[in-house]
Amino acid sequence: MDSVLSLITIFLLLIGSSGFNKNDFPKDFAFGSAISAYQWEGAANEDGRKPSIWDTFLHSRNQDNGDTACDGYHKYKEDVQLMVETGLPALRFSISWSRLIPNGRGLVNPKGLQFYNNFIHQLVIHGIEPHVTLFHYDLPQSLEDEYGGWRSRRIIKDFTAYVDVCFREFGNNVKFWNTINEANVFTIGGYNDGNSAPGRCSLPGKSCLSGNSSTEPYIVAHNLLLAHASASRLYKKKYKDIQGGSVGFSMFTIGFNASTSSKDDELAVQRARDFYMGWMFEPLIFGDYPEEMKRIVGSRLPVFTEEESEQVKGSADFLGINQYFGVVVSNNKLKPCPSRNTDFKSDVGVSLTFLSLSEYDASLWAMKDVLEYIKQRYGNPPIYILENGTPMKRDLQLQLKDTKRVEYLNAYIGAVLKAVRNGSDTRGYFVWSFMDLFEILSGYEFSFGMYYVNFSDPHLKRSPKLSAQWYSAFLKGNNTTFLGSQGITQLQTNFSSSS
Ligand SMILES: *[C@@H]1O[C@H](CO)[C@@H](O)[C@H](O)[C@H]1NC(C)=O
Ligand SMILES: *[C@@H]1O[C@H](CO)[C@@H](O)[C@H](O)[C@H]1NC(C)=O
Ligand SMILES: *[C@@H]1O[C@H](CO)[C@@H](O)[C@H](O)[C@H]1NC(C)=O
Ligand SMILES: *[C@@H]1O[C@H](CO)[C@@H](O)[C@H](O)[C@H]1NC(C)=O
Ligand SMILES: *[C@@H]1O[C@H](CO)[C@@H](O)[C@H](O)[C@H]1NC(C)=O
Ligand SMILES: *[C@@H]1O[C@H](CO)[C@@H](O)[C@H](O)[C@H]1NC(C)=O
Ligand SMILES: *[C@@H]1O[C@H](CO)[C@@H](O)[C@H](O)[C@H]1NC(C)=O
Repeated sequence: MDSVLSLITIFLLLIGSSGFNKNDFPKDFAFGSAISAYQWEGAANEDGRKPSIWDTFLHSRNQDNGDTACDGYHKYKEDVQLMVETGLPALRFSISWSRLIPNGRGLVNPKGLQFYNNFIHQLVIHGIEPHVTLFHYDLPQSLEDEYGGWRSRRIIKDFTAYVDVCFREFGNNVKFWNTINEANVFTIGGYNDGNSAPGRCSLPGKSCLSGNSSTEPYIVAHNLLLAHASASRLYKKKYKDIQGGSVGFSMFTIGFNASTSSKDDELAVQRARDFYMGWMFEPLIFGDYPEEMKRIVGSRLPVFTEEESEQVKGSADFLGINQYFGVVVSNNKLKPCPSRNTDFKSDVGVSLTFLSLSEYDASLWAMKDVLEYIKQRYGNPPIYILENGTPMKRDLQLQLKDTKRVEYLNAYIGAVLKAVRNGSDTRGYFVWSFMDLFEILSGYEFSFGMYYVNFSDPHLKRSPKLSAQWYSAFLKGNNTTFLGSQGITQLQTNFSSSS
């Protein structure tokens, strides 16, 4: 009886498993994986690099930091070799502004320039397409000191001069540029909550030295948008005809689900979408902030002049999304206390229920939610999923059997395929992260990597996890029906017996 049942189960799994493979995606769909400069390079004080606000923030708090990280600065050739073995068609990485231009503006550091030229050269000769992020949280500290960094409009000119160097020096080999990484998280973490660089806030009970959570997040977001628009304009004017690339902008996206079917909760979901996503996507698509946001934030929300609105509108050739999970939203009935300053979160006025790790993995619906929403609300713009992945505590990973991660990636890539088949103009997908990195909120405790990095080993040895083998099989497989749940179990068995 048991064996009959299990045969039936296997049969159901086989027909039920959503087997798919890489060839089910459009021919030019970009598959890759991602890293970022501060989280991978290390060599923080070498060859002329100067600190960014991220170095300063972590050092001031005595936290884990990226001083050494994966030492990618010295190990880049070895890592490109791992990418080749994995069969990675594309790599997303970022440029450290203060390595290339240590003071934020002015002289270019020849050693920094050489490093990025060498790295990009290695990728290109191995047929790996570089997707470059220009700003990934790491503003040169000197610009923060001089005029308050992103809080000042002076940043627009300096950012534009920096990207001009990047386009000029690397643009023959780089066709995909992402100006700003996770603009909303940078803004909320750095200027509302104060828990990431530059660590500013004015929330009661938080230990920020200075800041203003009711105004700065909006000012910084405004300047990020204007700086992006200026970079994009420069690219169109000076480089696009010759280099033929495209310039996008990225946000951390979240799937939102109402906690009840009440009208209040439905409105709360829309408000959450407006504040967390529409905040920057609507100016890029329509040239202005969402109406609801303007109504709630009032005079604290900067206003686009007509000219700025025209410049920002249409300035993103694609939207980059970093998509990990969904949350349950309910209307926040508490009215903000009038004697206390408002902040970004009291402006949104919703309660978000964040998920435990197991629910996080189950929030597959969030990928579809976000892709469908962007398609319908914004007229189906081109999308690159610049990050997707799942964290695991590093001590559980010693045996490298990250089956949970394989199941997560398999399910999420399947959800992307469904969205593409339903008309979403999604053009690429990058696993976060290629290897274990220094992580923004968890240091070295949790990691997302497909390769394990032994951070206690002086050589920082890298070893493939199950997920690296799995992704590699996916990337190299042609029209073999791709692994459903049976295949994952088999892969795991094969992996254990080989290691
Ligand atoms: C934040 O800025 C606003 C507008 O300038 C001001 O009214 C408010 O008092 C400031 N809040 C703090 C905590 O400094
Ligand atoms: C969204 O929440 C509702 C309850 O309001 C629940 O019934 C539904 O299953 C949830 N949807 C998803 C996709 O989680
Ligand atoms: C497919 O797209 C259509 C049109 O945008 C939409 O109405 C529908 O809900 C989508 N289906 C799924 C399963 O997401
Ligand atoms: C990491 O490296 C240290 C030092 O070389 C070694 O003792 C340890 O066994 C390694 N850990 C793993 C999980 O490989
Ligand atoms: C997939 O197809 C390509 C080109 O047709 C071929 O070079 C490669 O060997 C194939 N890979 C596998 C795993 O069959
Ligand atoms: C792979 O797909 C192509 C096109 O659909 C088909 O012609 C070919 O026979 C397939 N090869 C295998 C080994 O299934
Ligand atoms: C596992 O190994 C067997 C025997 O080598 C092989 O036939 C099978 O394709 C492998 N499965 C996976 C999912 O790699």
